[in-house]
Amino acid sequence: MTGVTVVDHPLVQHKLTLMRKKETSTASFRRLLREISTLLCYEVTRNLDLTTTRIQTPMMEMESPILEGKKLVFASILRAGNGLLEGMLDLVPAARVAHVGLYRDHDTLEAVEYYFKAPEDLGSRLVIVVDPMLATANSAIMAIDKLKERGARNIRFLCLLAAPEGIERFRAAHPDVSVFTASIDDGLNEKGYIMPGLGDAGDRMYGTK
Ligand code: PRP
Ligand code: URA
Repeated sequence: MTGVTVVDHPLVQHKLTLMRKKETSTASFRRLLREISTLLCYEVTRNLDLTTTRIQTPMMEMESPILEGKKLVFASILRAGNGLLEGMLDLVPAARVAHVGLYRDHDTLEAVEYYFKAPEDLGSRLVIVVDPMLATANSAIMAIDKLKERGARNIRFLCLLAAPEGIERFRAAHPDVSVFTASIDDGLNEKGYIMPGLGDAGDRMYGTK
């Protein structure tokens, strides 16, 4: 699928299997999500631009690579996005953070906004939007609509599981945003849950419901 990268690293796939298992505890689920997010972060940042800087090693001077441009923005779609955010910040501690508060109405499956806070200068930064689940894509589409309204232009979307229907809708709404995921599952059930999926990511992370 164009614009969609499936991260097939063996460690990602192994950890994802553990996360899918229904007997995995809340504590283990949270730990695995944090671990897997560092591996996904590695992939989503793989082609960032580099420049060089002159440094002095204990032995001699050299030109050495550093990241070019302004600090990244990680935009977390609450609540479950925060599980991915933690591991991303472990790898890129200087990143700026945006929070987009959305929940899915269980009857209509429409996203409902309850919070938005983002750095001012989104237009001059790469914005990586994170949410473990891309199901109908209503949440991801709305989150990116909001970020674009605030000026974001260079955006990537990172999730753990995606439904084919969600990817199709997402790519139609935001063709400029590339998608990174650990798996494209079979599809959605009649309640809009990803199958085989892992259940409700937020509930599994926080032990709610
Ligand atoms: C989940 C998930 C996504 C959304 C995906 O959040 O974390 O944000 O559903 O579904 P969609 O692609 O059909 O919009 P939820 O609404 O359950 O909120 P939570 O993270 O607060 O639990
Ligand atoms: N949100 C979740 O947390 N899980 C799904 O399967 C679909 C949406």
